[in-house]
This record gives sequence, structure tokens and C-alpha cells, in this order.
Amino acid sequence: MSMLSLQLLLLPLASFLRTAASSTGSNGSCAPESCGDLTIRYPFSLAGVQPLYCGYPPLDLTCEAGTGPAYLSNTFREHLFRVDNISYADNSMVAAVQTAFAGDTGCPVPDFNVTASLALFPFNISATNKRLVFFYNCAVPAEFLLRRKCANHTMGAYISKRSWGAGEGGTPPQGVSTNCSSVSVPVRRGMEPAQLHYDYVRLIRDGFLLKLPPVLGDCDRCRQMSCGECRFDQFSFKCVCGPDGKLCPNSTQPSSPTPPGNSRSFSFLTCTDYSQNQ
Ligand SMILES: *[C@@H]1O[C@H](CO)[C@@H](O)[C@H](O)[C@H]1NC(C)=O
Ligand SMILES: *[C@@H]1O[C@H](CO)[C@@H](O)[C@H](O)[C@H]1NC(C)=O
Ligand SMILES: *[C@@H]1O[C@H](CO)[C@@H](O)[C@H](O)[C@H]1NC(C)=O
Ligand SMILES: *[C@@H]1O[C@H](CO)[C@@H](O)[C@H](O)[C@H]1NC(C)=O
Ligand SMILES: *[C@@H]1O[C@H](CO)[C@@H](O)[C@H](O)[C@H]1NC(C)=O
Ligand SMILES: *[C@@H]1O[C@H](CO)[C@@H](O)[C@H](O)[C@H]1NC(C)=O
Ligand SMILES: *[C@@H]1O[C@H](CO)[C@@H](O)[C@H](O)[C@H]1NC(C)=O
Repeated sequence: MSMLSLQLLLLPLASFLRTAASSTGSNGSCAPESCGDLTIRYPFSLAGVQPLYCGYPPLDLTCEAGTGPAYLSNTFREHLFRVDNISYADNSMVAAVQTAFAGDTGCPVPDFNVTASLALFPFNISATNKRLVFFYNCAVPAEFLLRRKCANHTMGAYISKRSWGAGEGGTPPQGVSTNCSSVSVPVRRGMEPAQLHYDYVRLIRDGFLLKLPPVLGDCDRCRQMSCGECRFDQFSFKCVCGPDGKLCPNSTQPSSPTPPGNSRSFSFLTCTDYSQNQ
């Protein structure tokens, strides 16, 4: 993805920007933080602990009670998407939608399409997910019937034969009217209809796989420096030395010749010298 298209994707969310300096509890550092088992670092940031410039604004997370779970901060309802796992190596994460049907706090079925609710975010629901479809406002055949109603709607559910990547639409299974209201939830596992009666709650809770946008900048290299911290500031990647926010010298273009095979220790020295001399 080009720099420009990433900026365009991030722009709609710029209105959520906290002023970095005023985030409570933060000391200006982008040192990795944890929330439960999650390690949170660039391109993610942890609200209230790290300044927003530590990551992309849409990837800002909120850690419930300081111990987890973590949630995407900038969703239209609070605590809507729980983030259960981040793979920095694969550039992916596992998230789960955590919500209730309108007018029925006990029903964990979303009353919106998960795709639509994530449309402003710069990540994609992985095509490898399965499509769990809930339908209502129509006659529900017994084999699809859920035991529980949601806000007095008789609910049906099935796993679509098409993978998530094949897109919405597609014909419903035999016996299901095309006139029903429906919502789709991405899930990681398939399931037989007979089991779905009981287990749709667990399927939703187990979450789905998301592909994150390509990471801007050479953060791995930056992190190898003694005080190098990756930031996303003014819509660009910055490698910064410590909380004072001084830019690290660009280690890929050293002003003096670097001994071959020794670039890592060169970076280390450069950053250390820089912080001592400021
Ligand atoms: C403050 O800075 C240190 C590293 O300089 C870091 O370990 C710590 O987690 C930072 N954040 C807070 C909120 O204290
Ligand atoms: C997170 O993902 C890693 C790698 O896929 C896996 O080993 C680990 O068990 C996962 N953790 C959770 C809590 O799902
Ligand atoms: C969800 O998406 C499907 C397919 O595009 C659409 O028919 C349905 O009306 C949507 N549901 C809601 C609640 O918007
Ligand atoms: C559901 O139906 C019951 C009985 O018909 C009624 O008392 C209740 O108010 C209804 N609830 C909603 C949310 O419509
Ligand atoms: C679907 O809705 C249309 C228009 O409301 C109606 O004419 C048709 O009979 C419905 N079909 C089914 C299978 O319920
Ligand atoms: C998401 O999908 C769009 C359209 O296929 C693609 O252009 C974009 O690069 C994808 N983004 C990620 C993070 O995979
Ligand atoms: C150093 O600068 C070059 C080009 O000017 C750039 O491609 C590279 O990403 C920069 N390295 C760091 C660590 O910022």
C-alpha cells in the first residue's frame, strides 16, 4: 500500500486524535507496554499509557482495568472489538466482536454487519475466515433455529458455504427465504448446523483474523538502536530517541563510513552518543 493511500485511510479517524501531551499517565515514551498477554507497540498504541503518536490512531487500544482484555479505542460503541492476539511478524491480529442485539442485552448477536462497522479502519478481514450468518424477520426453518430469541425475533443461523473472501450476498441455504434480515460475522472455524444451536456464542467469542496494513518505516531497524522508538507522527514514520522526541540520526545513511558487517553496532553507538550529547 502506498504512503498516500494509508494516509487517506487514516484521515477519517484523525478526528479522534487525542493531544499527545495531555494523555494521562503517559511519560512520553513509546516503550512497549503490555495488556494481559498482549505486547503493545508500534504500529499499535495503548491509550492512557502511551502517547497516541506511538502508533496509527485507528490501532489505538484501550486496556480494560489495566489488566485486559484490550479493545480497539476508536469504535462507534465502547468495547466493541476485543483484541485477543497480535502477530507483529505476520502483520495480523485476532479480534472478536463483543456486543448485544439492539434491545436485548443478553443476546450476543450483533445487529450490524461486522464488515460495515470496520469500514473506516485500515485493516481487512482475512479471506480465510468463515461467514457466520444470522437471519430473522422471516420464517426460520427448524434446522437453523437458535434456541434463544433476540429482542423477540426468532433467530436462525448458518455458516455460509462461501468463504469470507467470496464476499457478501450469495444464495442462502435451501429453505431460507431471501427476504430475511441478516447480519454476517467472520469466524475462524466452521461448524455443523446441529452444533451451531449451542455454540454460536463460542464461535463469536473465538474471534476472527484481520490483516493489518503494511508497517510504515523500518521499525525493526529503529528498535535495534539503544533508545530507538518508532512513532507515527504528522502522518509519517519517525525513528525517535527517547521521550524527548529527538530524531535518531538516519542509520542507513551514516555520515562516516560504516565498517562492513557492523551496521548494527554502528546504529547502537550513534543513538547512544546522540542521547548523551543533547
Ligand atoms: C515510562 O518510561 C519507561 C521507559 O523510559 C517505561 O518503561 C514506562 O513503561 C513508561 N510509561 C509509564 C506510563 O510509566
Ligand atoms: C496468539 O497467536 C500465537 C501465534 O499464532 C499463538 O501461539 C498463541 O497461542 C495465540 N494466543 C492466543 C491467546 O490466542
Ligand atoms: C448486512 O449485509 C447484507 C448483505 O450485504 C445485507 O443484506 C443486510 O441488510 C446487512 N444487514 C444490516 C443489518 O445492515
Ligand atoms: C417481547 O414479547 C413479550 C411477550 O409477547 C413482551 O412482553 C415484551 O415486551 C417483548 N419485548 C420486546 C423487546 O419487544
Ligand atoms: C418477499 O418480499 C416480497 C415483497 O415484500 C413479497 O412479495 C414476497 O412474497 C416475499 N417472499 C417470501 C418468500 O416471503
Ligand atoms: C485490503 O483490501 C484492499 C482491497 O482488496 C487492498 O487494496 C488493501 O491493500 C488491503 N489491506 C490490507 C491491510 O490487507
Ligand atoms: C533512512 O533514510 C532512507 C532514505 O532517505 C530511508 O529509506 C530509510 O527508511 C531511513 N531509515 C530510517 C531508520 O529511518
